[in-house]
Amino acid sequence: METKAKSSLKVALEALRKEAKAALKAAATKEDLEAVRVEYLGRKGKITAMMRGLKDVSAEERPVIGALANEIQEALSAELDSKLEALQKEELGEKLKSETIDVTMPGTYRPMGGRHPLNKVIADICKIFAGMGFEVIDDDFCPEVETEYYNFEALNFPEHHPARDMQDTYYTNVGSNVLLRSQTSNAQIRYMENNPLPIRVVSPGRVYRNEEVNSRKFVLFHQLEGLLVDDGVRFSDLKGVLHEFTRQFFEGERPTRFRTSFFPFTEPSAEVDVQCIFCSGNGCHICGHLGWLEILGAGMVDPNVLQNVGIDPNQYTGFAFGMGIERLAMLKYSINDIRLFFNNDLRFLKQFKGF
Ligand code: DAH
Repeated sequence: METKAKSSLKVALEALRKEAKAALKAAATKEDLEAVRVEYLGRKGKITAMMRGLKDVSAEERPVIGALANEIQEALSAELDSKLEALQKEELGEKLKSETIDVTMPGTYRPMGGRHPLNKVIADICKIFAGMGFEVIDDDFCPEVETEYYNFEALNFPEHHPARDMQDTYYTNVGSNVLLRSQTSNAQIRYMENNPLPIRVVSPGRVYRNEEVNSRKFVLFHQLEGLLVDDGVRFSDLKGVLHEFTRQFFEGERPTRFRTSFFPFTEPSAEVDVQCIFCSGNGCHICGHLGWLEILGAGMVDPNVLQNVGIDPNQYTGFAFGMGIERLAMLKYSINDIRLFFNNDLRFLKQFKGF
């Protein structure tokens, strides 16, 4: 009985070794090898299963059979490893062959983009005001889809007041009082509502107007709003700041003039013109034969506006201004058509590369 159990287990083990070797030989991929490993060497593999018969073997024979099983396992494992290594080497060799890099091939040309001239001008303007102590508010501070309250009412444009018609506003179908902001002046209200005095900020952003498009007007453009509110702010402070701004922006003195004007949210109000660079003040179609181009509106913040945000107009005064970014860019870089900023024609944009 003993002899039979011993010999049959030994024979079975030897047979299993042969079988495993054949399977190993037939294995052509890493997956095949892994399958062989699981089938013969795994915890639930054939060798482990067979060794359960060891308990029926006599005490003297047990170590001999056990040693044989170990030897078979070790040999199989070593063969598996070396075959796996060979396969991996082969794979790598093929990969390297197929991925050889021809360093003499010409490179792929990837043109470098550049900053849009408007973004460049906005950054320049903000830098100038930052230098004068103004905080620059992110252009996502204010919504472009705005309510009538912030775009008009809080800025002292009463309902049905004809001043609302000065700006051809796009209304949305979200609600009768929801519109695309027609001016960055909403930033004044939104900022004053949430910040303590003194206030000294500039806020650039996009505005929309239902304009007839021509070389000077487009349905969307950019403005930069400025606001300063403190104790004892005077109109002469406004003039000083704006004069310093034009001097720095145009890199030297440029003929400018203050003209009285009207805005519901400032009193008194003014507009600033710069002499037309296209005709040096002689009059051309770009300046409407005036010799001057308007670059901004400004004035002392109307007491009603201060009251609307809970600031006592008897104690504090302020000035505000709103400038047209495209207009300033056109003047600085002799661009004679506002539509160029929005057409994305590379022949135009390329001229500002590296600016
Ligand atoms: N929001 C005005 C416009 O778009 C421009 C303006 C005028 C802004 C006077 C101001 C200001 O802050 O004080 O026509």
